[in-house]
Amino acid sequence: MDNSATPSPTAPNAAAAIGSSPRHDIPMVKGLPLIGSTLEMARDPGRFFARCYREYGPVYRFKIFGRSCTVLAGPDAAHWMGTREGKECLRSKEFWEGLLGEYGASQSLPGLDGERHKQLRDVLRHGYSRESIIGRYNELIAITDGSIERDWPRGEFVYCLPAMQMMVTDQLGTILTGRAPLEYVADIRITILNILNVLITRQRPRFFLWNPAYQRGKRRVFELGDQMIADYRARGPLKEGQMRTMVDDIMEAHDTNPGLMPKSDLRLQLTAPYVAGLDTVANTTATIVYLVLKHPDVLKRIHAEVDALFVGGRQIEESELKQLTVLNGAIMESMRMYPIAVAQMRTATRDFVWQGFQIKADEMLYMATAVPHYMHEFYPEPDKFDPDRYDKTRAEHMQSGAYSPYGRGPHTCLGKSLAEVQLLLSMARLFWRLDLALESPDYVLKTKTAPTPGPHPSFKVRVRGYRH
Ligand code: HEM
Repeated sequence: MDNSATPSPTAPNAAAAIGSSPRHDIPMVKGLPLIGSTLEMARDPGRFFARCYREYGPVYRFKIFGRSCTVLAGPDAAHWMGTREGKECLRSKEFWEGLLGEYGASQSLPGLDGERHKQLRDVLRHGYSRESIIGRYNELIAITDGSIERDWPRGEFVYCLPAMQMMVTDQLGTILTGRAPLEYVADIRITILNILNVLITRQRPRFFLWNPAYQRGKRRVFELGDQMIADYRARGPLKEGQMRTMVDDIMEAHDTNPGLMPKSDLRLQLTAPYVAGLDTVANTTATIVYLVLKHPDVLKRIHAEVDALFVGGRQIEESELKQLTVLNGAIMESMRMYPIAVAQMRTATRDFVWQGFQIKADEMLYMATAVPHYMHEFYPEPDKFDPDRYDKTRAEHMQSGAYSPYGRGPHTCLGKSLAEVQLLLSMARLFWRLDLALESPDYVLKTKTAPTPGPHPSFKVRVRGYRH
């Protein structure tokens, strides 16, 4: 191991990290014969990247089934992704090409780079933004209530992940597109699962896509996209008082600028919120439930906050969400300890030297931005669930490169602000209404890693009763 390659965790200086002459050879992570690091990576990719960062430094290679993968890891890598050099040296295109093939589309937001990416992001920005939900908090609460009453029956065990997936589809569909396609949840799930596993994260072989269940799911998702187009055409222009949604943004862009939003891309763009938001939010909310129930002291403090917020069943104002400091800390802490995106995949646009290591043009890279989440230099006792880390006085996440649950650089989550409100309100309402318990107090969360890391579908909680 070359210790000189290990950066100071608290003093990232990514702008100075890029240079012209390599000083080190990239170390190869020791793995098992033939399969390399496949097993460790499959078990817990976040901790695998963090261990290797400790042992090998900020740049290393590992092998999965004989394929060599290069990793740029840690706080400097996270910070660098947002710098001019980072933007110039990295592109996303290759990783999303498979998605285009499946949808017959010409481009996707996460697979675009440079000016074209900026243009499309501008078209989609409003629909995905926090503004799209301002003034609709009580509507979001009503949707959440409906999901709770439908999928969380009193006295029963509830499988958290599927219940959250229903809730999230209901919320995203209604808020973003004006329609909650609950009858499509299973189809959306199987389509996303296979596309992410086979084509994006490449954790499964291609023949998985021949599966008839996937083919049927994909056909149904296309049908949903076609129906959204037909509904938009049938409805005509927005009338006074009608909410503008992402569907309006996309369809207007198609009508006025078909070069930027061609017909071939409409199905993908219109159903993209589910690809982007379903697994991410469902996994995160299920994790929050586990961590909060596992820590009754935190649950008690959250109950006090949400009881004050919803007192007397009155309407909620935006400013009041700021009062939910413990709940907000619990959400942020869940996303630190169980991030759904432990690394972002990129390709090098050109030869460059980073932190003394030579990276070659067209090399595929894992940008392991979540590594600092597990580092005691940033988060003392990193394995401890401590929602107070995010208080103004401590603000451990504010250190440079320390916290990246929504990614880094030009592709940082476009739905971040919307997701923050969605997470906060959903969790506030769930903990306010339901008296929940783990299977047993010493239950330890079983996790899965494909397609996105999160709680295992077997994770269940008992609805002891309704608090409100
Ligand atoms: C817990 C919630 C969420 C988390 C942790 C999350 C995380 C992420 C991450 C890490 C990326 C970057 C991927 C990359 O750089 O390769 C991303 C991109 C994106 N997310 Fe999210 N996301 C969440 C919820 C949502 C929601 C609810 C939506 C909208 C419905 C959304 C829309 C998007 C979009 C459109 C992109 C692509 C942005 C671009 O390429 O310019 N996300 N998200």
